[in-house]
Amino acid sequence: MRRLTVLFGSQTGSAEEVAERVGRDASRRAFEPVRVCALDAYDRGELVNEELVVLVVATTGDGDPPDNMRQFWRFILRKGLPGDVLQGLRFVVFGLGDSSYAKYNVMAKKLRNRLLQLGATEVATRGFGDDQSQYGLEGDLDRWLPTMWEQVLALYPLPKGYVVDDSPRLFKPRNAKVAVEEGGVMDAAASIQARCALLATQRPLGCYETELLTARVRKNERLTAPDWEQDVRHVELDVVSGPCPPYVAGDIAVVFVENVIPDEVLAKYLNKLGLAGPDAVVSVLLTPEDTVPRRVTMRDLFCKYLDVLGTPRRRFFEALYFFTSDEDEKEKFEEFCSPEGTDLFFAYCKKERKTYLEVFDDFQTCRPPLEYLVEMIPPLGPREYSIASSRVAHGDSAVHLCIAVLEYTTPWGRKKKGVASRWVQERLATSSEVNLYIKRGSLRAPADAATPLVMIGPGTGVAPMRALIHERGSSASHLYFGCRSQAKDYYYAEEWQGLVAAGKLGSVRTAFSRDQQRKIYVQNLLREDHEALHNILVRQGGVVFISGSAERMPTEVREAIVEALGKHMESADEAKAFVARCEREGRLKIEAWS
Ligand code: 2AM
Repeated sequence: MRRLTVLFGSQTGSAEEVAERVGRDASRRAFEPVRVCALDAYDRGELVNEELVVLVVATTGDGDPPDNMRQFWRFILRKGLPGDVLQGLRFVVFGLGDSSYAKYNVMAKKLRNRLLQLGATEVATRGFGDDQSQYGLEGDLDRWLPTMWEQVLALYPLPKGYVVDDSPRLFKPRNAKVAVEEGGVMDAAASIQARCALLATQRPLGCYETELLTARVRKNERLTAPDWEQDVRHVELDVVSGPCPPYVAGDIAVVFVENVIPDEVLAKYLNKLGLAGPDAVVSVLLTPEDTVPRRVTMRDLFCKYLDVLGTPRRRFFEALYFFTSDEDEKEKFEEFCSPEGTDLFFAYCKKERKTYLEVFDDFQTCRPPLEYLVEMIPPLGPREYSIASSRVAHGDSAVHLCIAVLEYTTPWGRKKKGVASRWVQERLATSSEVNLYIKRGSLRAPADAATPLVMIGPGTGVAPMRALIHERGSSASHLYFGCRSQAKDYYYAEEWQGLVAAGKLGSVRTAFSRDQQRKIYVQNLLREDHEALHNILVRQGGVVFISGSAERMPTEVREAIVEALGKHMESADEAKAFVARCEREGRLKIEAWS
């Protein structure tokens, strides 16, 4: 039988996108029926009845399954499942990960091993997509798909005479119905109400089961010196909508951000697209799931609900192909969507971080109708920030955040700012309101305040550490902080001093990377402190947390710890094994973001 199911475990939506692409490809290869389904929406008991399953799974920073895969993962890990329970199942795995993390694609690897253990048969070589690879995840997928299909079609030959057509095709909007209201008006209060009503239905997995939280901004202060190259903010929120969930240090705020688009700029784009102006009210019906209120102004649609400042997916161009009459543009889109066009697409889109809106500057004749547009552009998702406060020290309704404003220059020399960054800088004024949920994090203070805790948090990695330090108020806490310059970006310096003086923090060690010729990073300090580290970790059964922006930091810090401990052990291997054991036991945890 030629039926195929694609299951995905997705954290940020990339795995879902890959799954949809595999599903489309499968339909074009005459598989029938083809189902694409999130792992948490999948009836797990069905697995034994499947014929062929493609599993697309992401790995989160610390090597954990994505939120919507947790239950499935627990289910198939159950002890006592017979070793042949999945004997009839044929499967393929594609993993999404980031090779700058030590636990690169471990979920895909583990899942594959477990399926094999349960008797399932792998019918094509597993694929990995790497955020760090030259062409990104999608490029890796492009290279993997043809060989995957070759192997799969060897077992499931195409019907006689069937020719695969991979040329761009217009997807059908999922019954999106959009209508501009004649003379409709919507005031600010109605706009806020519509947003809250929608977000109330969008609590992400893993969050405390509260109603949508509304918080008032109490403070939004620049932590770095005014003349410094980086803008890092300390934001204090006060939950005003009702009781704040009983969050603990290590938890994460999931914040609904907005696109900052000046009205005249928005009006220009709407005009160019032949759409109604910013104040026009449209009624939108999207099935099966609502990601936009039923009644919304064009301004809100573009600023609050659609990720119009995000980087376009290929699928976007596949659809645009049908909404331009210009042959040159059509040709370009076709090229973007073909395997040969991978380089071109990545140079234009990904590396340059083009936005959906900017594409309309470059391709002037595209006029997708609104009912397509609302499905061609994905919804604007919330952003996650480690909470930097503790309810014990800052009060039950306080939520503090420490946010770096991301600014960069693209390869073509265009200066850009992150979507959330711009919102934090320009819109998060004192006494404005924001919506959020709170999600359980993976860092948890040791139960005993006397257990030594070493916290390594350079840059904004210090956010969860600040929460932990305040929550424990223990001199068994030790902080390693790194930044560029003592005078310019050593934030919270006085606070640490005060806590140390009060006996609520044992020590602070600092690495100022650019205050001298040679770079000094937190890992240099860890190597120097080998004796203390050995004492804490090996003798006293202490715990180590590492947090911060990914790239090489977490891996290098981990290596430095292995090296430091190695000085007190028989061999480097012994130290390696010890650190690996700490990780398994949760005594060494990494929380990283990019
Ligand atoms: P740099 O920007 O001078 O390279 C917070 O971002 C601090 O972390 C900065 O001082 C930054 O130094 C430093 N940093 C950058 N890469 C790092 C790495 N691989 N390991 C540890 N610290 C790093």
